[in-house]
Amino acid sequence: MKKGILLIFFFSCFFTIAQITESAMPRIDKKNDRYALMVDDEPFLILGAQANNSSAWPSVLPKVWSAMEKLDANTLEIPIYWEQFEPSPGAYDYSVVDEIIEQARQHDLKLVLLWFATWKNGSNHYMPSWMKLQPQKYPNMIGKDGKAIDSPSPHAQATLDADKKAFVAFMKHLKEFDKAHTVIIVQVQNEPGTWGSVRDYSPVAQRLFEQPVPKAALKPMDVKSGGQGNWSEVFGKNADEYFHVWHVASYIGEVAAAGKEMYPIPLMVNAAVRDPIDAGWPPKYQVGGPNDNVFELWKAAAPAIDILAPDIYTTDTEKYLKLIELYSRNDNPLLIPETHWRSPFPRFFYAALGNGAIGYAPFGLDDKRVRFGADGNRLTDEDMYVPTARNFELFRPMQREIAKLNLDGKIKTAVQLEPIDKDTDRGSPWDREDYITDTTLTFRGWDIDVAFGTFDRLARTEHQPEHPDGRILVAELEKGTFLITGFHSRVMVRPTGQKADNHWNYLVVEEGHYEEGAFVVDRILNGDQTDFGLRFNLPKVLRVKLYERQ
Ligand code: DGJ
Repeated sequence: MKKGILLIFFFSCFFTIAQITESAMPRIDKKNDRYALMVDDEPFLILGAQANNSSAWPSVLPKVWSAMEKLDANTLEIPIYWEQFEPSPGAYDYSVVDEIIEQARQHDLKLVLLWFATWKNGSNHYMPSWMKLQPQKYPNMIGKDGKAIDSPSPHAQATLDADKKAFVAFMKHLKEFDKAHTVIIVQVQNEPGTWGSVRDYSPVAQRLFEQPVPKAALKPMDVKSGGQGNWSEVFGKNADEYFHVWHVASYIGEVAAAGKEMYPIPLMVNAAVRDPIDAGWPPKYQVGGPNDNVFELWKAAAPAIDILAPDIYTTDTEKYLKLIELYSRNDNPLLIPETHWRSPFPRFFYAALGNGAIGYAPFGLDDKRVRFGADGNRLTDEDMYVPTARNFELFRPMQREIAKLNLDGKIKTAVQLEPIDKDTDRGSPWDREDYITDTTLTFRGWDIDVAFGTFDRLARTEHQPEHPDGRILVAELEKGTFLITGFHSRVMVRPTGQKADNHWNYLVVEEGHYEEGAFVVDRILNGDQTDFGLRFNLPKVLRVKLYERQ
């Protein structure tokens, strides 16, 4: 009998330990049109940062960890170099990837690994030397003028075979080595496609171009029956572009599918995005990657890829917001894997969350030596890390709650678009009826009026931030109860619908933070802190309960 109890005890310990070491696979869940990245079976928000291109070496990693700490990030995006991984044909070197995973665990970070292989920014620069030295076997593309292009051909079977084999070996290793699932996403290639030629004009490519368009490529572009023919006949002026996209996407789709079969974690491809408002013609942008005009081709050619992700470096607010809109689709979760870290760009983190983003990551913060401001001075930590850390410090303790609220479709956000006009837009400090409103977020029974800037009672303060950096996030916890957080903004509340004319008030405004999934109240705000709206001159987290008085 005692033996039996001991055995039960032994087995339950064993299974508990097995569960801890072998946690649930990362995956992507969808509810209505919203997504969540599931890590350890719970929604997870990537508060990320991407390392510089040459930082994935053990000698550089200490700088990377120190930057991650300053940012308060929870996920590091970092390359794995094909040239390092396969220094000679079929001989794989796992030492660097193991080092990265082990050190990431020590720093309590998750990883997005970037497979820099056939394509890196449209070129083949990360191919192993033994491949670069055999250009006949692993060819680059040929331009229309017959000259070589610095971009690998998507029609090179030997390159595809080599990439696929190496990628499967890499994924097999992750499967065996990363039982704790520190790696939550793998990016397959980096900004694939081509600069400087809209397609490959080599004899091999030309032959394919003159053949009928495969049926699989007709359907996604909504070509009606009767649309048979070669690429030019079916797609006219878009033929060259669509042909190249289809073949780059099919190539990557094949690499991805083979890797996913070995180890099914979420896979992503990032795009060097074209101008989302005025793309121009003929294309001067990188052709081949998942641009907004060829989403359907990519989804059809590479179904193993879960996320088509925009690298957003535009400094134009309208274009930035348009890209966010274009990449958050019913068939695609929004993840911004690369973006600016300079103020005021980090406010777009909020814009991304308002569109259901599962993650956001500024690029290249781990090497300060090379960073200089416009005045020629070296940038300080305040310049480099604080703009992003201001967001991440606030969100890290509640990232899972935010990710869950987003999956449930409960979050709305707004960001400041224009600098504040100091002469005309100060408002009256006392006139409650006519308070400044820049935008309104609408919820069941309540409107949330948002004004951007810093506030002193009902008026904006005399000195406003130079750049438009205001941001606000409102999540409906239940009807009439909201989680509100933001920076450089102010919130006023109004009942709507049948109760629009009712008197209302705050039942309670709690300032606090999340700890292990529970909201912890630090203090209750009232009096001057609520009578003039809820002011976010500094970032904070509020839980606000409203009621209508009879
Ligand atoms: C986008 C690329 O994806 C990154 O790897 C990097 O090259 C940046 N551009 C620019 O530094």
